[in-house]
Amino acid sequence: MSVISEVKQRVDIRELVSEYATLEKAGRNLKGLCPFHTEKHPSFFVFPEQQTWHCFGACGSGGDVFSFVMRKEGVDFGQALRLLAQRAGISLGPYEKVDKAAEDAKERLFQINEAAAEYYHHVLVNARAGEAARSYLAGRKLTPETIKEFRLGFGPDAWDTVKNYLLGRGYEERAILEVGLIIEREDGGSYDRFRNRLVFPICDAKGRITGFGARALDDSLPKYVNSPQTQVFDKSGSLYGIDKARSAIRKQNRAIVVEGYTDVLTASQHGWKNVVGSMGTSLTDKQVDAIKELTGNITLALDADLAGEEATLRGKAILAHSNTEAEVILLPPGKDPDELIREDVALWQKLAEQAMPIMDFAFQSVISRIDIKKARDKSLAVQKLLPSIRELRDPVQKAHYLHKLSRELRIDEAAIRAALMERRSVTTGSRPGKPAEQVRPAREAGSSRIEEHCLALLLQYPELRSSAGELSLEHFECTENREIFAGWQGSSNISDLESELDASLREHLLRLVGKVFLPGIGESEVIRRADLEYCILRLMERLSRRLEANKEAILEAEREKGGISSELIKLEEQGIGSGQQLQEVFAKKGRKEWMQSKKRT
Ligand code: UTP
Ligand code: MN
Repeated sequence: MSVISEVKQRVDIRELVSEYATLEKAGRNLKGLCPFHTEKHPSFFVFPEQQTWHCFGACGSGGDVFSFVMRKEGVDFGQALRLLAQRAGISLGPYEKVDKAAEDAKERLFQINEAAAEYYHHVLVNARAGEAARSYLAGRKLTPETIKEFRLGFGPDAWDTVKNYLLGRGYEERAILEVGLIIEREDGGSYDRFRNRLVFPICDAKGRITGFGARALDDSLPKYVNSPQTQVFDKSGSLYGIDKARSAIRKQNRAIVVEGYTDVLTASQHGWKNVVGSMGTSLTDKQVDAIKELTGNITLALDADLAGEEATLRGKAILAHSNTEAEVILLPPGKDPDELIREDVALWQKLAEQAMPIMDFAFQSVISRIDIKKARDKSLAVQKLLPSIRELRDPVQKAHYLHKLSRELRIDEAAIRAALMERRSVTTGSRPGKPAEQVRPAREAGSSRIEEHCLALLLQYPELRSSAGELSLEHFECTENREIFAGWQGSSNISDLESELDASLREHLLRLVGKVFLPGIGESEVIRRADLEYCILRLMERLSRRLEANKEAILEAEREKGGISSELIKLEEQGIGSGQQLQEVFAKKGRKEWMQSKKRT
């Protein structure tokens, strides 16, 4: 994690701002007199869930922790970073040292996993205890070469064999626990996690073992036990087989994603080396990021009975990345890649060659299920397909599929575009009683992405400067991006910009400069301009939406307050308790609960 994001994670904006201004609760937010200008009525708000602040008074501006400190202390980004890092207990100078210690600790965990894998593998290949597992694998037609290459193993049917082995090699029980190989008993002891199971070591891209998956040899449940989340293992970010598939993925410029461990093994055994396993779930952003280091072409092998809707759900993380293409291999009913490849490798080959873009697949499966003559079916199809079209980051593709939808459903394209806008305001806009923050996480992930896409375009294609007149600092919410945009405004080339920026931002700048786009962007200035204009439009929309949402949140808070006090007055008039008492009850219990208890009695 970069120092910048670590600071963002560790510094709470409420605490920070409270040192400069007195804040009081306003609904789910806080408000107070603005610390940047003199005012009588509070118009300064802190939105804890967004970790942002905004002044609706004379300043009319806002931002995150960095911009708050920059303004309040009159310092530049680098100085603000240093102040905040110090506050968060992240020392920047000896930062590398701290990092080094953490790295050493991780290194130790990798070593333990390595030793455990060696042990499990030895048991599987040589020991008598591994007999049943050996014949199980033979039954599944996995060869000794595959077993060796993927270092499969077997965890014996006992409580402490791995534990004793590792203790014997000098590793501490604490560390073995930490890496998830043993489980702590309530009374203090501990025992092996992977017992009587086939063990699949899971590696990171560098080939270091981060964790394990372990399968029962029979039908007992759970079918697989996996390592818990540890310092080195994060299931949602792992891709089974990535270390071995890396170079093939690069060479073939395509990654095939299957679900299971055994799917990867069988594919590899049959010469399909560019295959990785998603560990049984939809692809996550982190997994897509890891694949994107190697290729922009991702093919998902999908179950036949997955509806198109779910297929696109599975590919959602891919659709949301601007420079990736998602394709689908549709498997025959009831077959996973492991079975298919073993039974009919030629068919697998054919299906892989005929993989189709995920959106086309979604269209096909949705439209084949509806009756195009019925109005209700048409609107159902729009409802199902529109969210995925909205996910598409590439404007040309977006236009393509909107057009396709209008053609296939025989509906006016303008109507579909209107539906696109309308649904957007329902899902991301604000409704009374439903503050906008609730939809924030998804929006947030996309929001810095669009900022970054826009900046990368500007940095990489200087001729676009003339089309960026409408952009201003306000459009960038993430301070790193805002700083780089400010620098870009004031400089004429990248090396000037780089020398002007604070050193801590250099890495971010380089990432933007090195960002890879879809081929169309590089080939045509028209597409580049269209793409930039689309980004700017989105950033402008987003800014006004956010301002709207913030205003709504404030109104909400006011309404809530107003609601309480008018009710209090009413109750008081009826002679039920003193206002002061009731205020306290409200504060303690919350209004709703209190009203309910009132109804009951
Ligand atoms: P599957 O149930 O399809 O298993 O789960 P599989 O890989 O085909 O295994 P075999 O062929 O029956 O031996 C797909 C993947 O989902 C994850 C694993 O990564 C598995 O390979 N999974 C499944 C779990 O993590 N835990 C489970 O309990 C089940
Ligand atoms: Mn299987």
